[in-house]
Amino acid sequence: MPEWKKSRIEIGILGLGVVGSGTVDLLQRQRAEIERKIGIPFHIKRIAVRNIDKVRAVKVDRSLLTNNAYDVLNDPDIDILCELIGGVEPAKEYVLHAMKRGMQVVTANKEMIAKEGNDLMTLARQKNLDFQFEGSVAGGIPIIQPMKNALGGNRIDEVMGIINGTTNYILTRMSQEHADFGDTLREAQARGYAEEDPTNDIEGYDAQYKIAILSSIAFTSRINVNDVHVEGITHITKADITYAEELGYTVKLVGIGRRMADGRLQVRVHPTLLPQTHPLASTNNVYNAILIKGDSVGDVMFYGRGAGSGPTGSAVVGDIMDVCRNLTHGSTGRIHCTCYDDSAVMPMDEVETRHYLRMTVQDKPGALASIAYALGACDISIEVVVQKAAQDGHAEIVWITHEAPNSKVREAKETIVRLPEVISFDNWLRVEGLYRE
Ligand SMILES: NC(=O)c1ccc[n+]([C@@H]2O[C@H](COP(=O)([O-])OP(=O)(O)OC[C@H]3O[C@@H](n4cnc5c(N)ncnc54)[C@H](OP(=O)(O)O)[C@@H]3O)[C@@H](O)[C@H]2O)c1
Repeated sequence: MPEWKKSRIEIGILGLGVVGSGTVDLLQRQRAEIERKIGIPFHIKRIAVRNIDKVRAVKVDRSLLTNNAYDVLNDPDIDILCELIGGVEPAKEYVLHAMKRGMQVVTANKEMIAKEGNDLMTLARQKNLDFQFEGSVAGGIPIIQPMKNALGGNRIDEVMGIINGTTNYILTRMSQEHADFGDTLREAQARGYAEEDPTNDIEGYDAQYKIAILSSIAFTSRINVNDVHVEGITHITKADITYAEELGYTVKLVGIGRRMADGRLQVRVHPTLLPQTHPLASTNNVYNAILIKGDSVGDVMFYGRGAGSGPTGSAVVGDIMDVCRNLTHGSTGRIHCTCYDDSAVMPMDEVETRHYLRMTVQDKPGALASIAYALGACDISIEVVVQKAAQDGHAEIVWITHEAPNSKVREAKETIVRLPEVISFDNWLRVEGLYRE
């Protein structure tokens, strides 16, 4: 075993916000236990922030703080850099700088990993460094290390998850309170579950980064984040949630990565009707859950808090401990990038699912038949149809179709919106199949 010559491990941190505070708090509170487990003392040497005078959620010695990230990055004593500032730049520049100086890196930055993971992992490999990012997907839920280690022998064919707590909270409350999207979003913001600018969450971008990362690891192929089809939840109404429930489903924002028989991959994020019996369907409020199908293990589900200071700090500290063990045993860079393949991502138009379609029509004979004809003309067959009288001589019709490619539904929609009986085409959501083990 190569000799580790230093008496303690020095840690440098960029960012002392939500995740940085949770990380520092846990490192300070559990210091004795952590040091026993890793077998060596550690020390937080420096922390870079934007504003040194800001009140912090965790108590730290002011002398540790700097507003110049390079005070941390150029410190020759620092062994492990924790990047917890977020965004692509300057985070990427800082991480590359740290690696060039030989620092091991831990980050929770999903956007940087999803968009720039290739450059970062390539340099880490060249320099034989650890580059760990457990906190970047599903906060406190261990998912990246388990996929790379404990499940590493499996051929994974599917990864499916509720991986954004904000949207899951909103959809859960809409269902429980029969409330509208806008009111529920405002409530989520008031409770601190949605940001002032909620775009990243409600438009599905946060989940898009996460499913790109999960799928890259699951299918050993780097997923370009722009190839991930993404739809958010802003168009979900309480009517959709009520109809879904009446039909035995629950509406969730789901990230799906699936390996197809022809070797191509489906990687997508969109609101989805899940059967109420599906293992993910009972994941409510801010909780996240990820279901993985491995050829040997079968189905494995991971459940927990997908964000927040404590949960994400827990993931970051786990990574730090892993790196400390690797450092003292001379084994950094053991687990490198596993994207060996170059599998194509299937265009969304070709993806076949069942579909939920809701429309408002004139409540008179022949309306339902005209729409059914338009669907049939595009080879879309119907599994369920529900018609309810609304007001003013209008009726609402909800259809659940059998499996059909997205392109066919788009084609049918173009015809349906032009039918004289149709007042509005109100929503189109995907329906995932019955859960089969
Ligand atoms: N929040 C979560 O629950 C969560 C969960 C999983 C992953 N993540 C990821 O974790 C990362 C951090 O998120 P967060 O929620 O902790 O963010 P945050 O609360 O906004 O904190 C960011 C921290 O970075 C500091 N900072 C920003 N730019 C800097 C710069 N150029 N130099 C030095 N310091 C800088 C800020 O300083 P000031 O405090 O002085 O402004 C702040 O302390 C992101 O990549 C995010 O995607 C977050």
